[in-house]
Amino acid sequence: MVTESGVQGVTESKDYFTNHQLIMVTINLENAQATENLGIKLGENLPPGSIILLTGDLGAGKTTLVQGIGKGLGITAPIVSPTFTLINEYLEGSIPLYHLDLYRLEPQEVIGLNLESYWEGLDVTPGIVAIEWPERLPYKPDNYISVNLIHTAAGSRDVEICNFEFHNP
Ligand SMILES: Nc1ncnc2c1ncn2[C@@H]1O[C@H](COP(=O)(O)OP(=O)(O)OP(=O)(O)O)[C@@H](O)[C@H]1O
Ligand SMILES: [Mg+2]
Repeated sequence: MVTESGVQGVTESKDYFTNHQLIMVTINLENAQATENLGIKLGENLPPGSIILLTGDLGAGKTTLVQGIGKGLGITAPIVSPTFTLINEYLEGSIPLYHLDLYRLEPQEVIGLNLESYWEGLDVTPGIVAIEWPERLPYKPDNYISVNLIHTAAGSRDVEICNFEFHNP
């Protein structure tokens, strides 16, 4: 099913699943502005406690999407890749944005960081948690949105968005 999304430069198709992967939306993002526009929509609409796991090759557009989320939250500080700082926290928007980049870490090293405090809202104000290179996580949160950015032959990006919810059987 292909529809206009209402966001400029963004067209989408949807597939529905059962189990804990509830829905997958595939969207073409024709340029970097479209990636940012999608991020703005997410920032404007996601509730506190949302976790976004951002996958995709080097240069796929993960940070660009987070920059859009920041705009959607009304954050004016420049959002820069936390490749070296690991975690950047932005507290000036409507809700906090926690931007993590785990590229330089091994799963073993991630264990000691106590990252679950971000998604359990322990010791931190609940906000949006956006994680680049979540492949490095030794475990996943129970509920999250997976955003997978893919280079296209035309130089644009496709993005697959799924929400995962863990339900006890
Ligand atoms: N939909 C798009 N179409 C074309 N170019 C895009 C699109 N989205 C983002 N870009 C561009 O891709 C480049 C890389 O973006 P970005 O730094 O966000 O990638 P990244 O996935 O965070 O990379 P890294 O893996 O190094 O962290 C930037 O020049 C950005 O403008
Ligand atoms: Mg990046």
